[in-house]
Amino acid sequence: MDIQTLRTACTDCQKCPLGRTRTNLVFGVGNPEADVLFIGEGPGEQEDLQGEPFVGRSGQLLDKMLACVDFSRKENIYIANMVKCRPPQNRDPSPEEVNACLPWLTAQVEAIRPKIIVCLGRVAAIRLIKPDFKVTREHGQFFRHNGILRMGTYHPAYLLRDPRNKPAAMEDLLRVRAQLEALTE
Ligand code: URA
Repeated sequence: MDIQTLRTACTDCQKCPLGRTRTNLVFGVGNPEADVLFIGEGPGEQEDLQGEPFVGRSGQLLDKMLACVDFSRKENIYIANMVKCRPPQNRDPSPEEVNACLPWLTAQVEAIRPKIIVCLGRVAAIRLIKPDFKVTREHGQFFRHNGILRMGTYHPAYLLRDPRNKPAAMEDLLRVRAQLEALTE
């Protein structure tokens, strides 16, 4: 299924209770032919209001960091979340909510067919890389799953709270850029 058909199919999703409290479903944004797919946790307040991922403060930081390595949601990457609807009070999505939403994300991955998936933060990394993934210890490492390289790095909201890890997060993004170039040479 192509990404537009998928977006339409997803619009009225009520597979979990988050469907009842959302303002807008936040499906994803970017180039549907991107080589790199970034996956966050779930929409926050601004994302819920605007229907687009990472448009609040952490999104502004993410866009700036991406621009340093020539990635842009308008051109060459795609951005989605583990859950497509805002968890109330910005709590972490529950495992049940992540499970209910996972088929949408799997279908997005199948439609986009990225070469690299970057997990932004723990919620995405424990689900898409391995259950005991530790961001502080394993960020920046590549793991291969089903022919796709996967990496976990710091969530931009965490970097806003603790900017000391910004250089390490930038190094992770540089590794993504270098790996992509090696893959497409
Ligand atoms: N945090 C996320 O994980 N995703 C968003 O879309 C916004 C903030």
